[in-house]
Amino acid sequence: MLQTAPALSADPKLNRERRLAELKQEIQELKQLRNAVILSHLYERLEVQNIADHLGDSLGLSQVAAKTDADVIIFCGVHFMAETAKLLSPQKKVFLGNRNAGCPMADMITRDDLIRFKADHPGVPVVAYVNTSAEVKAESDVCCTSANAVGVVRALQAPKILCVPDQHLAKYIQSQVPEVEVICWNGFCPTHLRMHVEDVITLKKQYPEALVLAHPECDDPIKDLADFIGSTTKIRETALKSDQRVFIVCTEDGVRQRLADDCPDKLFLTPTQACAVCPNMKLTRLENIRNTLLNMPVEEEIIIPENLAIKARRTLDLMMEIHG
Ligand code: 13P
Ligand code: SF4
Repeated sequence: MLQTAPALSADPKLNRERRLAELKQEIQELKQLRNAVILSHLYERLEVQNIADHLGDSLGLSQVAAKTDADVIIFCGVHFMAETAKLLSPQKKVFLGNRNAGCPMADMITRDDLIRFKADHPGVPVVAYVNTSAEVKAESDVCCTSANAVGVVRALQAPKILCVPDQHLAKYIQSQVPEVEVICWNGFCPTHLRMHVEDVITLKKQYPEALVLAHPECDDPIKDLADFIGSTTKIRETALKSDQRVFIVCTEDGVRQRLADDCPDKLFLTPTQACAVCPNMKLTRLENIRNTLLNMPVEEEIIIPENLAIKARRTLDLMMEIHG
């Protein structure tokens, strides 16, 4: 029988809600058809987070990608995350929720840059933040994420390390592992650096009882004020289990939105809220996920040449072995 679309309402909000409900239904059906799993980072739009099968930080989502028995992975995040999923699950078809979502920090170091950096520091092991391309991972010794960076560096027991690309994560590692000399690349996350310590101080004056939760990618003055520093999942877990009612969330705004939705009885504030948005993480919309599942465009599939994948995968496997 022919189905007729419901008539458009005069209320644009109602139309949008209907459209979202239809999209969610289509995504569920296509997911079954493709035997697909949807992974979403905590910085994604809330409607994307809400339809995901798994939600988390880079480490958690990598672990899911490594174990899933789905045939297709739709990664709602940025390019290095989908690449990591492909490295850990090479037999699956992996797609980004939106093919254009990149990470400017990951682009701040190339394979050639790293080769030169290594030549300046011969024999010093390279710890690559997961926010790097497969090519950079392949030139590194071990990978880390914001959740396990300190543990990975401690476990290496090297007197010196090269840490790429984020100088702010590197400084955080250095503060936690002072016995190791951490030589860092000069990359940074533009989103985290748009948050100002002055705004944290202002919020703290307004809410002296508030807990400050910060991502290691924040600049030092913010981290110096933080009650807790950790990955996006660890920030979420800390806020969820805390008896405190007010939190200043110093990371991308998706985490604040997630928490506000998780705990309507608590207050979550972000310094410089309008700026604390990663434009790349906001590129993925439900329409993109539906279209990707529907068309599975070959040209959008994440493909990593096997000779490169073997080398890059080694750094992730070692990370999982040390601190998975
Ligand atoms: P997490 O691994 O903590 O989720 O961070 C990823 C990221 O891109 C932070 O900007
Ligand atoms: Fe990259 Fe920063 Fe966006 Fe994370 S928040 S994906 S590090 S640009």
